Amino acid sequence: MPWKGLSHIWRPSLHPSASTSLETAPIPFPRTLCWAGTLHPEGVSYFAFAPRFPQEDVSSLGPCFYLSFGLPFRAQRTDQTHRSSCFFPPGVVLARYGEAWKEQRRFSLTTLRNFGLGKQSLEQWVTDEATFLCSAFASKEGRPFDPRSLLSFSVTNVISSLTYGKRFNYDDPKLEKLLELLEASLKEDTGLMREVFNEFPALLHIPGMAQRFFRAQKAIFDMLDEFLEEHKKTLDPTQPRDLTDSFLMEIEKAKGIPGSSFNFKNLRMVTGDLFFAGMATTSTTLQWALLLLLHHPDVQQKVQEEVDQVIGRDRKPTMKDQAHMHFTNAVIHEVQRFSDIIPLGIPHMTSRDTEIQGFFIPKGTTMILNLSSVLKDESTWEKPYRFHPGHFLDAEGHFVKQEAFIPFSAGRRVCLGESLARMELFLFFTCMLQHFTFVLPAGHSPPSDKADISLILKPRPFQLCAVPR
Ligand code: HEM
Repeated sequence: MPWKGLSHIWRPSLHPSASTSLETAPIPFPRTLCWAGTLHPEGVSYFAFAPRFPQEDVSSLGPCFYLSFGLPFRAQRTDQTHRSSCFFPPGVVLARYGEAWKEQRRFSLTTLRNFGLGKQSLEQWVTDEATFLCSAFASKEGRPFDPRSLLSFSVTNVISSLTYGKRFNYDDPKLEKLLELLEASLKEDTGLMREVFNEFPALLHIPGMAQRFFRAQKAIFDMLDEFLEEHKKTLDPTQPRDLTDSFLMEIEKAKGIPGSSFNFKNLRMVTGDLFFAGMATTSTTLQWALLLLLHHPDVQQKVQEEVDQVIGRDRKPTMKDQAHMHFTNAVIHEVQRFSDIIPLGIPHMTSRDTEIQGFFIPKGTTMILNLSSVLKDESTWEKPYRFHPGHFLDAEGHFVKQEAFIPFSAGRRVCLGESLARMELFLFFTCMLQHFTFVLPAGHSPPSDKADISLILKPRPFQLCAVPR
């Protein structure tokens, strides 16, 4: 990997080969971080750990270092985590690399594509949702409001339509409840008990334990189960409506095939994975986009000039416009780079002994790709810790791709929803700026650009006024 700041963090498993490897290739260890065990009083999980990294420690360590998390850390995506072994079957996000994951990844990508990813229909869908969002902003009549829920509602509707064929009105109490539960479930995933169960998964076999400590996750799944039940009753195989219908049809086809990953339990997990992964990530990025525009009114004005020039005020934005909107494209990329919402990616595990940059890494080691260290790498970016759309522009003001832009990660487990997310970010962002100028409420100072710590880095509550243009 070319980046100086790329840090793989791992905890070698406690078997003998791990310590031998440490002797042959000593791996730097950040001493000031060794207190950060899984049972830290604030309930710091290692997912929530990244923003607390003292940068000076990290950069002095070089590209690879390891962290000890007390007891052997059980990686996600093995069959040892509480999610996959005791609680839920595999799905996609936490599935082990193997046939079941391959089958479901292929199925999800193909089905999303069939339901319009990369086609006019999905674009139309997202554009319509962006129009609903703008109407909701307009109904505030320039008064101050916190935009975070409305952004989440609109993004939820896109992924919910794809997976469950369901769109909610923004004033539907079910939608609000769903988002409240999602918020709570992200916190459950970074809380102290999550770590305790990770260390002692057997505890989850105690009756009522999982329900008690993962109440929000259970409640969400209960809600999603209602959608699935409805689908089972109303499925018409000649006219699949969404990803759930397609999955139900695959279950029929797979009857009698031993080991197939198409079954009812996995339907729940696969649709749930797509729903959650597609909901919080994109809406959080849009929340950061608006927050950053409040800090940088000059950037907002330049985007609006480009929108006026390329799209105008009356026509709806389309994905074809993107190629002509260099500055806007650079701004969206810079929002993703700067906000860095998934700083540590999702843990992986080595399936065989391997070597990275001269370090020997034994099979079975948990590897965490520090995406943040690449997105903020001082040797790549001119102003790594500042919001600077120029990172993605050449001297002529043309958009330039950057190899170190990896908010969706890289490799075989690269984000499955990248194309959908990119489409949503472009269409929502341009549509909002076509219709509104976002300003701070009178007397307010710019909101904090520090993140709230949960499974992903979210902006703290903030208010703005959407002034119609
Ligand atoms: C701005 C939006 C998004 C960001 C920044 C993002 C980022 C990521 C990252 C960093 C990973 C981990 C990759 C790894 O393990 O190395 C991931 C995985 C994944 N994402 Fe996204 N994502 C976004 C939107 C979406 C959307 C809209 C969907 C839904 C269709 C989605 C579905 C998934 C799935 C299913 C995986 C697991 C893939 C696998 O393990 O094979 N993501 N995403």
